[in-house]
Amino acid sequence: MAPNHGSLLYEGKAKCVFRSDQDEKVFIQFKNSATAFNAIKRAEFEDKGRLNCQISSCLFELLEKQGIPTHYLGVADDCWMVAKKVEIIPLEIVLRNIAAGSLCKETPIVKGTELEPPLLDIYYKDDQLGDPLLTDVRLEMLKLITPEQRSTLENLARDINFSLKLFFNQIDLILVDFKLEFGITHDRRIVLADEISPDTCRFWDKRTSDPEARILDKDRFRQDLDHVLEAYGEVLKRVQGACAKPQKCL
Ligand code: TMP
Ligand code: ASP
Repeated sequence: MAPNHGSLLYEGKAKCVFRSDQDEKVFIQFKNSATAFNAIKRAEFEDKGRLNCQISSCLFELLEKQGIPTHYLGVADDCWMVAKKVEIIPLEIVLRNIAAGSLCKETPIVKGTELEPPLLDIYYKDDQLGDPLLTDVRLEMLKLITPEQRSTLENLARDINFSLKLFFNQIDLILVDFKLEFGITHDRRIVLADEISPDTCRFWDKRTSDPEARILDKDRFRQDLDHVLEAYGEVLKRVQGACAKPQKCL
């Protein structure tokens, strides 16, 4: 059931953000819509919103316990998260532990190559421009963040990767790569925002070596593979088996 939310603040491809009765707090609704390739490909998956909301909530709680500041405050219902209101920094920070996806399309690096240290790529979050990969100089020219904020973001992203890689390894999932977004709170603090889910990560199942069966993330949809929802459900089952139940918050 939807919580008692206020007006719509923002609608993205996978989530809606609503006002609450407090200025610093928002309700985030996770949608069942899925898009890929900058929304060229679209579909609805019944229950995806709940799965991503619950997976993200468990992971944000885990990270908070490890000292990573996030926007997360709690879950309000199946597909509703309660979060601090933030101004999203329009950058997508991608951490890559194993070569896959665009890295292999755009370079001769072979899929499956281990990347040590993990590769950190920064993209400009702008759908109309197709979220372009930024160079150091282009990032400086955009003046979206100060050099200090950039090191904060990069250090947080690497710490998050370290924690999540270990966590997923324990539940037999390889964290191939993932995308993070950060926001600035009303008191000017940088926190991890958005979501961490099979929509924004690549997970390979350690329990099979079959290159298609091991995919437990949005690549199933991108590559027209079946059992998309079952894959997301398997990720939630394993995550919940290793995490505390997310805190209810209204
Ligand atoms: P990429 O290989 O397409 O660059 O994607 C790297 C990771 O980032 C992968 O785990 C999927 C995630 N991602 C998003 O969450 N949103 C996006 O718009 C894109 C392009 C990738
Ligand atoms: N998130 C992007 C889109 O909605 C791209 C992707 O995840 O593949 O199109």
